[in-house]
Parts: sequence; structure tokens; C-alpha cells
Amino acid sequence: MSENQASLTAGGNSVDMPIKSGTIGPDVIDIRKLYGQTGMFTYDPGFTSTASCDSAITYIDGDEGVLLHRGYPIGQLAEHSSFMEVSYLLLNGELPSSQELADFSRTITRHTMLHEQLATFYRGFRRDAHPMAIMCGVVGALSAFYHDSTDIADPTHRKISSHRLIAKMPTIAAMAYKYSVGQPFVYPDNKLSYTGNFLKMTFGVPAEEYEVIPAVEKAMDRIFILHADHEQNASTSTVRLAGSSGANPFACIAAGIACLWGPAHGGANEAALNMLKEIGTPDRIQHYIDRAKDKNDPFRLMGFGHRVYKNYDPRATVMQSTVREVFAALNVQDPLFETALRLEEIALSDPYFAEKKLFPNVDFYSGIILSAIGFPTTMFTVLFALARTVGWVAQWNEMISDPGQKIGRPRQLYTGPTARDYVPLSDR
Ligand code: SDX
Repeated sequence: MSENQASLTAGGNSVDMPIKSGTIGPDVIDIRKLYGQTGMFTYDPGFTSTASCDSAITYIDGDEGVLLHRGYPIGQLAEHSSFMEVSYLLLNGELPSSQELADFSRTITRHTMLHEQLATFYRGFRRDAHPMAIMCGVVGALSAFYHDSTDIADPTHRKISSHRLIAKMPTIAAMAYKYSVGQPFVYPDNKLSYTGNFLKMTFGVPAEEYEVIPAVEKAMDRIFILHADHEQNASTSTVRLAGSSGANPFACIAAGIACLWGPAHGGANEAALNMLKEIGTPDRIQHYIDRAKDKNDPFRLMGFGHRVYKNYDPRATVMQSTVREVFAALNVQDPLFETALRLEEIALSDPYFAEKKLFPNVDFYSGIILSAIGFPTTMFTVLFALARTVGWVAQWNEMISDPGQKIGRPRQLYTGPTARDYVPLSDR
């Protein structure tokens, strides 16, 4: 067996499988011929040890708490870059020149407006509908309005639909919020930045001039950067699987939104703030820590733990410092921040969390910032989806552009009944 081969002996057969190496990170064992050579499948529910694809977009080292986007550390991008620049980087693989960035930003800006008929979709929802339900519906409906960019075999169509999705998500998200509070929709303002425009569409009202607060715009833009992409997480894998069947990009992103909604994934930011509200004061923390450790209690610390990070999520580090920036800019305080800090301190000193390597993740502090800016908790996952759209679109493009990509079709370990004959109703 050569050094870059793995050998497996199963059912009396010995099978050699090639080992593939990436630029950094774990090698992979290429098992694509396994079933043909052994008649057996691998078994990995939850994909804890499975690489689903090649990708050059995002790299995570969970043990070291490293997150790179096209090789650039998330901490440097959060400090020096902008969401538009990170979007360009994720889509194109390199940081843009100033002209490239200006051209890209202008293109996105000019796609922020939504087809006027889409506004009627909102009126079909109850006012108290969860905004994520609206996002699933409206984004899925985009393919009914933008037929001219759904030929996924055409790179130009892929580029246009990618730009449309990135550009229109803030408009759709802001409209979902406006609808929930019974305020009129605010049209995009092309004079503003991507993030400034989103804030105005969300919090502006026709009767008054809306002033974007630079510090809030910067914090919001940084939060978008922190949520932009994250390797093959559940919602990105959903987008890839939907895309592998040839579904149009709008439908694929709607599928990603639906997956992100779950509290184990993007819904955790809403759940984490609700948990902090339920805990309330630091004196009640230990009771919830005990519940989280109790195997018979389904309660988990929301915003804690991660499939990949067995160290501090580097995004949570930036998020925590951003809380202080936003509080200072808005001259506000929130006692839940102290509760969150104390909860983190107590949990990280508890052997249960230390042994299981459970640390705060991106969702632990984000809700405190978003709440301070003025978003209701129901909008938190919408903001996650808004930002993650560029990652989903970049990953989708990477997959569709691969001439060797195949439809995703996992197999199973069957545990049901063996073949048996039908029993007539009269005999049952
Ligand atoms: C995101 O994948 C991504 O990259 C996602 C994301 C992205 O950017 O796309 O980073 C965004 O989804 C962040 C995660 C947000 N979710 C939460 O904060 C929800 C709370 N966390 C968990 O439910 C959990 O940690 C997961 C879902 C995030 C990860 O679960 P895993 O990897 O499947 O791990 P597991 O459920 O098998 O847990 C391992 C052990 C278990 O105990 P044992 O059965 O081994 O005794 O750790 C325990 C769990 O009970 N555990 C927790 C816990 N998380 C795991 N115990 C208490 N509180 C928690 N939060």
C-alpha cells in the first residue's frame, strides 16, 4: 500500500483507496469506488467524518479556532474589509482593486429594487407571520419573476442571478420587517452603502429623513461579514444538494433559508437571546448550566457548541467586542450582556463544557447587538440569511461550475421489513 493510499479490509475483500490532500486541513480518503468493490456503503449520519466536495472558498480549523475566506483570516476581514469587498472575494477568489470594488458595489446597488408585484406576496401573510416564513416564500418566488437568469448552464445567467440574490435580500428582509410592524415599505436608496441602505429600508419611515449612524452601519456591516460563509454547514450543504439537481438558484437559496431557520443552526441567535431573557439575572445562571448538563433535560445552552469548532469561534470574539462598540455608539446598556459574559465565564470553567469542548459560537452575542440596534428577535435569523446568501451563492457557483459535479444521492442502512406479500383487508 503506497503512502497516499488507504487500505480497507471488509467482508474478506481488501480495498485500496486513494488519499487526496488539499492545500491545508485534513486529507480525505476517496471512497467513491468502495461500493463497487465491496458492496458496502460507508455510514456517517450527520456527516461527522465526511467531506462532501472540494472547495476553495472557506477553510475552518476547529481545533485552532481558525476561519479563512479565500485564505484571509476572518479577524482581519472583520477589522479592515467591508461586506461588499468580502462578497467580491468569496465570489471571485481575490480581493478587488478599488475599481473592481466600485463596479461590483454599483452593480449590486442597481439590483436592490424588487419587482413591484412581489410586494403583493407580503399581503398574503398574517402580520404576525415569522419573517423567516416570509423569506422562504418570497425568495422561492423570485424565480417566477426573473426567468431571464435561471439558465444555470449559462455563466452570465449565473452571475446575474447571483447579483440579484445578494442585492435583493436586504430589500426582501426589510420588507418582511416593515410588514410585521404595519409600516409602509421603504424603497432602496442608491446613494447609500449596501448596509446603510438596508438600515434605512428597515428603520426609515416616509414621514422623516433617516440618518444612518456610521458606527451602527459599521457594526452591522461587520456582522454581515461574520455571517457570510462557513464551509459546508447544514444550510450550505442544502443549497449544494438542491443545486446538484439543476434547480434554479432562487429555489436553491430558498432551500438554504429553510434549513438555516432551525434552532440548531441559524435559528440559534434568536434562541440564544430568548434563553438569556429567560435566565434574566446572573444568579439564575447555575440553574440553566445544570439543566444543560442534565442528560434527561433537552435544554441546551443556545449559542454554545459547534460541530467543527472545538475552540472559541473566532466570530464570537469579534461579536463580543462589537457589543461594546454598539453600546457606546448608541449610549445604551443591556444587563443581558453582563449575564451573557457571566454565563460564558461559568460555563467555560465547568468540566462538562471543557471536556466536551463547548465554546460560545457566532450566535451567542449577536442577538444582544441586534437587539440594541432595534431588531426584534424574530429578525435575527433573517439577518443571518441575508449575510449568508453570498456564501450560499459562491458555493453554488463553485459546484455548478465544476464539470464533474453529479447529483447528490446518498444511500442508507436499511432497517425496515424484508419483502412480504400484501394481506387483503378482509384478512387483517
Ligand atoms: C451555527 O456548521 C456551521 O458552521 C454552523 C454555523 C454557520 O456559520 O453556518 O457556524 C452556524 O449553526 C452555529 C451553531 C448554532 N447552534 C447552537 O448554538 C445550538 C446549540 N448548540 C448545539 O445544539 C450543538 O452544539 C450543535 C448543534 C451546534 C453541534 O452539535 P453536534 O456537533 O452534533 O454535537 P452533539 O449534539 O453531538 O453534542 C456533543 C455533546 C453532546 O453530549 P453527549 O451526548 O456527548 O453526552 O455535547 C453536548 C451534547 O449533549 N452539547 C451541548 C451543547 N452542544 C452540544 N450541551 C449543552 N449545551 C450545548 N449547547
